Amino acid sequence: MTKTITKIFKIDDNTLDYAKNLILNEDLVAFPTETVYGLGALATSDVAVIKTFQVKGRPQDNPLIVHVHKDYDLSLLCEIEHDYVYSLIKAFMPGPLTLVLKSKGSVSSFVTCGLDTIAVRMPSHKGCQQFLKYLDLPISAPSANISKHTSPVTAEHVYNDFNGKIDLILDGGKCEGGIESTVLDVTKEIPVILRRGLITANMIKKVVGCCQDANDYVDGKVRSPGMKYTHYVPKCQTALFSRNNLKKAQELYDEYLKNGKIPCFLCDNALENSLIGKKLLLGNNAKEVASNLYYMLHLAESVCDILIAIEVNTGDDIDLSVMNRLSKACKKID
Ligand code: TXA
Ligand code: MG
Repeated sequence: MTKTITKIFKIDDNTLDYAKNLILNEDLVAFPTETVYGLGALATSDVAVIKTFQVKGRPQDNPLIVHVHKDYDLSLLCEIEHDYVYSLIKAFMPGPLTLVLKSKGSVSSFVTCGLDTIAVRMPSHKGCQQFLKYLDLPISAPSANISKHTSPVTAEHVYNDFNGKIDLILDGGKCEGGIESTVLDVTKEIPVILRRGLITANMIKKVVGCCQDANDYVDGKVRSPGMKYTHYVPKCQTALFSRNNLKKAQELYDEYLKNGKIPCFLCDNALENSLIGKKLLLGNNAKEVASNLYYMLHLAESVCDILIAIEVNTGDDIDLSVMNRLSKACKKID
């Protein structure tokens, strides 16, 4: 079998034309968004969507988000049952918010895994909007990483996971947001956060007046299929400590160093002077920390044997979203 050569192209008219041909041919194209890179497929094609699950090694019961450009007519995909949804669209779209709405069944049933709801998102990334507008089609896309691995925030991260497996990666630089969109169920009277992200419960409350910030599990039942799986794990050893256990974190660091291994800390900048040794610093505020989180987890794979992460606390409620990812990516110690 001939191996696919994976190309990385910057976004312009020629490459968009090439990307469109691949998508219409039911092949996969990775593309940038403001959160993380996505692995795009024609959402109406069973063949293309099934390829997404196969290439990623994704569990069959974890539905995909459908991406559309900002002028796309959402009524082609879903029903809007509550008026507050219009206010949310006005306030946050395009942007890092995914809405779960009642599906009209117009995309492949493999996208929604047979659910009667559909997750819809309008990314704000300029290159992504160009790509979606050029296609003018609904594009299903999970994060462009092999299942369980850390999500990609550069074209190179996508290449490292999918070299030889997909034809094209559209390169739109480093994703600014850095963690996946907030997934919000808007099929009920009150919006319910299924996955935390950069659009926080407080921001939604300011627009709608209410918002339930769901835990991953409620009454032993998982709220969103994706939340029950392992996620975001880097290919090095990891250990996660709370902020009041810096001493233990330092002891672990020193022990690894003594045994000839390369340890490295991962923390926000406020802890820079509280730990002694090699550090990957996440930033000074919540947005910087979110933006750098996956980038640093990827970097850790090539610079250390064990990543010793410290709980993030910048005082912003985005910290909750960051900790949702960090606590899944790293082995919690104390
Ligand atoms: O920022 C993002 O959301 C990125 C970029 C590429 O857009 N995409 C992303 O996709 O993170 P993925 O597949 O890694 O995560 C999609 C999440 C999963 O937790 C999945 O269970 C949930 O959305 N989801 C999708 N459709 C759903 C539905 N109908 N009901 C409930 N949850 C749904
Ligand atoms: Mg993902």
